[in-house]
Amino acid sequence: MNKELSCVLVTGGAGYIGSHTIIELFNAGVQTVISVDNYSNSTEETYARIEAVCGKNPVHYEADISHPGHLKTICKAHPEIQGIIHFAALKAVGESVEKPLEYYRNNLDGLLHVLECVAEFQIKSFIFSSSCTVYGQTSVFPVNENTPLSEPESPYGYTKLAGERIIRDFAVIHPEIHCVLLRYFNPVGAHPSGLIGEIQLQKPNNLVPIITMSAAGILPAFSVHGNDYPTRDGTCIRDYVHVCDIADAHVKALRFSQSEVQTVNPEIFNLGSGEGVSVLEAIKAFERVNQLVLNYAIGPRRAGDISAIYSDSSKAEKQLQWKPAYTLDDMMASAWKWQQNLGK
Ligand code: UD1
Repeated sequence: MNKELSCVLVTGGAGYIGSHTIIELFNAGVQTVISVDNYSNSTEETYARIEAVCGKNPVHYEADISHPGHLKTICKAHPEIQGIIHFAALKAVGESVEKPLEYYRNNLDGLLHVLECVAEFQIKSFIFSSSCTVYGQTSVFPVNENTPLSEPESPYGYTKLAGERIIRDFAVIHPEIHCVLLRYFNPVGAHPSGLIGEIQLQKPNNLVPIITMSAAGILPAFSVHGNDYPTRDGTCIRDYVHVCDIADAHVKALRFSQSEVQTVNPEIFNLGSGEGVSVLEAIKAFERVNQLVLNYAIGPRRAGDISAIYSDSSKAEKQLQWKPAYTLDDMMASAWKWQQNLGK
């Protein structure tokens, strides 16, 4: 980490990817991390867990960034902030279809308020959580950052696409602020300590938490959403990437954006393992690594699912020196360890 990078603000710092990123920031030598979270899908207790892992606790504020003044007050109190990593957003695809206005208001108002602060307080780096959802279904694999984007299937997807567009327009008038868009594929797993992971305050929608909660007996048998896709075993293919690798990429993106190496604004990076894994392959990996037999059945397709997507992450490797360190087995083992610790 650059010696001079000493203070970073993270929105959504108590959340799944935010909490892992705070640990990576501390491990990289950042002295002060400020977390802003409204705990709508996380808990304040996460900070004690962060401290148990790395011995440091972020300065933390309970605040809602979709409220105009909240973040401004915090930024005013911390003129030392050099970069903002913006995670805070709603992310349940199905819920976004039910509550589109809530998603647009929360995710877009939140982003606008963060950008206003970045501009007003002349914060040099801005890192945005985007998603591979912006690519939609493409016919050429793997997808790289130049793959054309398509119309999102859900309001959630639209907030990511619109968010990217807002940041592009912002960067035109603020060339002094370096913006980076990180397009996550499927972040899964948990910190190897088993102390940090995704807290499910709502009904889980994503495959790996559904697997672990079903294995723990919290959920009943689960369904594989369709086995008639044009893939090698008929189930959908995704690119699963360990959440600690995703966290590490944020530290590298921050370092990149603080340097003069960044010449394109905003710069975009795919963050995936580069490997396509089917739903059945993910299930088998979980069963093998954890020596468990899962209770599942093949069900109908889920509306809005694309059949396959996986990443070409060579740009992040070249420009950020980022390469995933964890395997699919690591993802499945750590996800189960976290689930088991949650039950204690
Ligand atoms: C979903 C979102 C994506 C979002 C990401 C992170 C959709 C269409 N996409 O990705 O925009 O960025 O979550 O929140 O929802 N599966 C089952 N059974 C289950 C659950 C999932 O078979 O009970 C399958 C799905 O059909 C899919 C795969 O597992 O093929 C992965 O699903 P999921 O973990 O929900 O992620 P995505 O759909 O890829």
